[in-house]
Amino acid sequence: MSNSLLERDRRALAGIGKLRTSPLTICHARGNRLIEEDGRAVLDMSATAGAALLGYGHPGVVEATRRGLEECAGASSMFGASESAVALAEDLLALVPEADDHKVWFGHSGSDANDTVMRAVTAATGRRRFMSFHGAYHGGISGSMSVSGHPSQQHALPRAGLVQIPFPNPYRPLGDGDAARQVLDHVDFLFSTAIPANDVAALFIEPLQSDGGMLVPPPGFFSALAERCRSEGILVVSDEVKVGLGRPGCWHCYQAEGFRPDIVTFGKGLGSGIPVSAIVGPRSVMDVSEAFALITTTGNSVSTSVGRAVLRHIRDDGLIHNAAARGRQLMEGLIAMQGRHELIGDVRGRGLAIGIELVTNRRTKEPATTDAAKVALRCYQLGVFITYVGMASNVPELTPPLTLTADEADEALAVLDEAIGDVAAGRVTDDEIAAFAGW
Ligand SMILES: Cc1ncc(COP(=O)(O)O)c(C=O)c1O
Repeated sequence: MSNSLLERDRRALAGIGKLRTSPLTICHARGNRLIEEDGRAVLDMSATAGAALLGYGHPGVVEATRRGLEECAGASSMFGASESAVALAEDLLALVPEADDHKVWFGHSGSDANDTVMRAVTAATGRRRFMSFHGAYHGGISGSMSVSGHPSQQHALPRAGLVQIPFPNPYRPLGDGDAARQVLDHVDFLFSTAIPANDVAALFIEPLQSDGGMLVPPPGFFSALAERCRSEGILVVSDEVKVGLGRPGCWHCYQAEGFRPDIVTFGKGLGSGIPVSAIVGPRSVMDVSEAFALITTTGNSVSTSVGRAVLRHIRDDGLIHNAAARGRQLMEGLIAMQGRHELIGDVRGRGLAIGIELVTNRRTKEPATTDAAKVALRCYQLGVFITYVGMASNVPELTPPLTLTADEADEALAVLDEAIGDVAAGRVTDDEIAAFAGW
């Protein structure tokens, strides 16, 4: 029996096999690179699906972790006021300018933050239903999963009373005409027929639908929908877990879409690899009852001191500007690449959240699912790690650390160009990707 890291991983770890896009091993990581068992350095254009916001081994994160450990690891903000938890809450309240009379809750993952929002708004409003989008991914635990609509969660039943609406996809509109108008009309139709709007507690939004295919909505769509919800007393939740905190080239993705959420959830990048999540929401919801969402290590000193360091570095190191600049560089390179490769049907995104939709035929837009898996594998073989998303698993995505340099962006573009060319020329076989079936 082989005792390689990959073999031991296959024997010991559960439930992640299909997420793997390559035989990557991670023994060490520095800056924006993952170092494999054999010492090879791989440029990480995923940042663990957006979590490693500042890359790996960032001195600010290392120092904040050490401080959090030394100060009071093991104690949390559950039984006493702790400086780093209160200070991070204050930082987040200041960061969400819409947060008038708001409070903060801390958890450990985007999943628990969205899950907690669901319970809090149900209790606060007395309404029974939620709205969300087809293709949405709000988490991997039972509550947040039950308002998601991603194909990877087919095994989980949606929550009773969930109202799912199509995400307006400019590349694949439902019919002729305006994709946003179609969905807004559909919502009006639902509210005037089967769904009493005053029974809907909240609408969950990913302002850029990432796992569903890196979909950027048509301009004005979310502001119109949020307005419609507000007139019905429906709370609007902006799930910023994957694409917020500087990644879109501004602090929050909802700012890019021009809408004002009632509740904001954060996760992933807030800890740049250290588990911490947060909800920022109105007191009327957040103080709904004692102990509605207790987690023993809530607001612990390690997570919260790292959260503060991450926010500080995003601001002081110009990372929002860098996300916008590197995003432009990547988009320009990819759009030029689209001229060379028929396989690329569409390129879209905001800042450092970019999707490259692959199709077998640009006219019919048949999803090139197998080719997406092949491109990801070939990129890995050539030294760049990427993943792919989308309802048909045909959208390679780029969510690198916000610390990505211009040279690294060029390196990633060169590798993508070569990888897509190799796949189009049939140089990656079906057998090679058999173990990486797509999620
Ligand atoms: C938009 C969004 N929300 C929530 C989550 C759940 O975050 P986590 O897996 O850290 O719990 C994810 C994870 O991919 C996500 O993309």
